Amino acid sequence: MTVFKEQQLLKEHLDFQKDANIGLVPTMGALHAGHLALVEQAIKENDYVIVSIFVNPTQFDDQKDLNAYPKTLSDDLQKLSVFEDKVYVYAPEVKDLYPEKTATEPYNFGLLETTMEGASRKGHFQGVATIVFKLLSGFMPKRAYFGEKDYQQLSIIHALVAQKKLPITIVDCPIVREKDGLAMSSRNTRLSKEHRDLAPLIYKTLQQVKAWKGQKDIPEIKQWVEEFFQKNAAFELDYFCIANANSLQAASTIQESQKMRAFIAVKLGDIRLIDNVNF
Ligand code: PAF
Repeated sequence: MTVFKEQQLLKEHLDFQKDANIGLVPTMGALHAGHLALVEQAIKENDYVIVSIFVNPTQFDDQKDLNAYPKTLSDDLQKLSVFEDKVYVYAPEVKDLYPEKTATEPYNFGLLETTMEGASRKGHFQGVATIVFKLLSGFMPKRAYFGEKDYQQLSIIHALVAQKKLPITIVDCPIVREKDGLAMSSRNTRLSKEHRDLAPLIYKTLQQVKAWKGQKDIPEIKQWVEEFFQKNAAFELDYFCIANANSLQAASTIQESQKMRAFIAVKLGDIRLIDNVNF
């Protein structure tokens, strides 16, 4: 497994494999089984896989959150070493991706970016789109792999690829969960023991929400979720909503003809966790 710090050098290296299909798995490191599932799928579907490991500063609206983001490069490389010569790692410094200013490019994703995560984390998706475009247009992979845990991010990336007319297939990969149902996330390692024990309630709530489809209407379900988290004082509910799975706009009635999804964001102490399920 080879590690590159410069995109240009990796591109020159890959020039030898001109006709090979490349899969890209963009990550911010602190790799867990969810990331490794993306890499495994990418290996099955492509000749070579690039895993990028870069904590992108422009997608953090909170400097504290950026500073606290786990940086575990040697562990990450160890985890990827099982894939041997199928995987190239791109682990740059900030200057390689932001040679001039560490700033976002302006993008317009309309209502897709103003709801949920977009409303709670100012500028987050401008930062995500900026870095994902740099990675996609830089490497021009055949396919790029992203997890559905960040479902809104995935919708924005589909919109980005369509806007920029990139001939790249974005592959949506299912959420990987711990045995107790908690969606895998690099942030889970930062939970206190007490909060880690409580965290599976997030997915349990979503399962309950799903079970009520056809029995309760959306405002009733929403009220139940809000009251549930009010009673559990360790949690701070940021948002819960049931939305159209394509437009991501919150719905107040169930539309059988439309794909819908339930989304949640909560804080446990300082750690913000998100999850979502088909509804
Ligand atoms: O999902 C992530 O880890 C990041 O948002 C991404 C897509 C790698 C961009 O920095």
